[in-house]
Amino acid sequence: MRYENKLFKGKTLAILSGGGDTPAINSSIEAIRNRASLLGFKVYGILQGWKGLLGDGDVVDLTNQPYDGYYGGTALRSSRTNPFPSKKNPVSRVPQVLRNFERYKIDVLVTIGGDDTNGAAKRLFETEGIPVIGFPKTIDNDLRTRTIHTYKGKDIEAVLCPGFPSAALTMMEFTANLRTTAESHSRVLVMEVMGRDAGWLTGSAVFGGATLGLIPEFEITKERKDVFFETVKEAYMHSKKRCIVIPVSEGTRWYDEKTGKVDVVYASSELDEYGHPRFGGVSGIIASEISAKLGIEARAQISGYYPRSGHCRHYDRRLTATLADKVVDLLLREEYGQMPVMKKIVPNVELEEFNTTSIDMGAVGNKPLSEDYYDISKFAFTEAYHDFLSNILGSPGFDEFKYDFPVVIP
Ligand code: F6P
Repeated sequence: MRYENKLFKGKTLAILSGGGDTPAINSSIEAIRNRASLLGFKVYGILQGWKGLLGDGDVVDLTNQPYDGYYGGTALRSSRTNPFPSKKNPVSRVPQVLRNFERYKIDVLVTIGGDDTNGAAKRLFETEGIPVIGFPKTIDNDLRTRTIHTYKGKDIEAVLCPGFPSAALTMMEFTANLRTTAESHSRVLVMEVMGRDAGWLTGSAVFGGATLGLIPEFEITKERKDVFFETVKEAYMHSKKRCIVIPVSEGTRWYDEKTGKVDVVYASSELDEYGHPRFGGVSGIIASEISAKLGIEARAQISGYYPRSGHCRHYDRRLTATLADKVVDLLLREEYGQMPVMKKIVPNVELEEFNTTSIDMGAVGNKPLSEDYYDISKFAFTEAYHDFLSNILGSPGFDEFKYDFPVVIP
């Protein structure tokens, strides 16, 4: 009898996740599934992003299944498949998607993704009338969620995407750990951090004790490179243990003496179906130039998938639940083509539905780090960025070996 009264009884909601995984996708799926099934929906999971809606479809029933939202990555798996024609795949696969919509009798689709996955969903909504709701996701934190961070009375346009809080915490811990190795060998450790064209994740290393950093938003020209080397030297010489960890974004635009050009270092020339290249390797170049120019031992570390992997952290757990509450609101209002976001940057206890809103999921675009958050003259993150991070991560987290030993004079 109970079920008879459910609002969406007889309807089916499907969930898919596309693009790079994050530690918070399973948490998002679990939160959306729980709420949708309370509303009476049958809940399906589409496997491997848009790929699971091609051919005969690859669909599983999540309605009454146990689901571990703490477990990182995505149990639905992911792909960078684009159903619309692209350079890599010029044939439209939209008819296949539509056929599977009919076949599996899907009434609403929730797409967990970044600009590519949600952009494709919005296009399906506009061109084919498919009811879709977007859900933000990325460790890069570069989706323009229009989340306002108020710092010292000033409103700064920030970003808050599920996945970033967990990745940022892992980055902070990794940096804090690297310090002990940097200290033991009096080295400069140049640590490469994912994030594509944005430096949000690189900035989280400052809570692990990094003082300098390089981000894609501000290119390192020939002139800036000289100032950067001077700054590194000074920071190294002034550090008590003669060591520093320098986080550098994988998308750092670095002046190449051989070509005379400022460019990103590419890991491969291959593009994905959304036309994105893969970055990688700039840390090795920077570390060897520091060694050569300053005569200080420098090594490169690529953090790679480390912040992207592992379990969902507390802030993300609550953030995904809060945004899923907003999905319920959108479902009840039948407002499709929208994506839930936080209106403002808040500490985890204030992650509540009344602090959410929704935005057009198709016109999101990328939001780089603003000048409010990074001081190019010092190659350092500002107080405002520290404040932004403290809402998400709490306090900086690194240990220091506090003892000074008396020197023995023979
Ligand atoms: O967008 C997330 C991200 O992790 C970026 O930071 C990175 O550039 C890219 O994905 C790498 O993607 P993959 O190795 O999965 O192709």
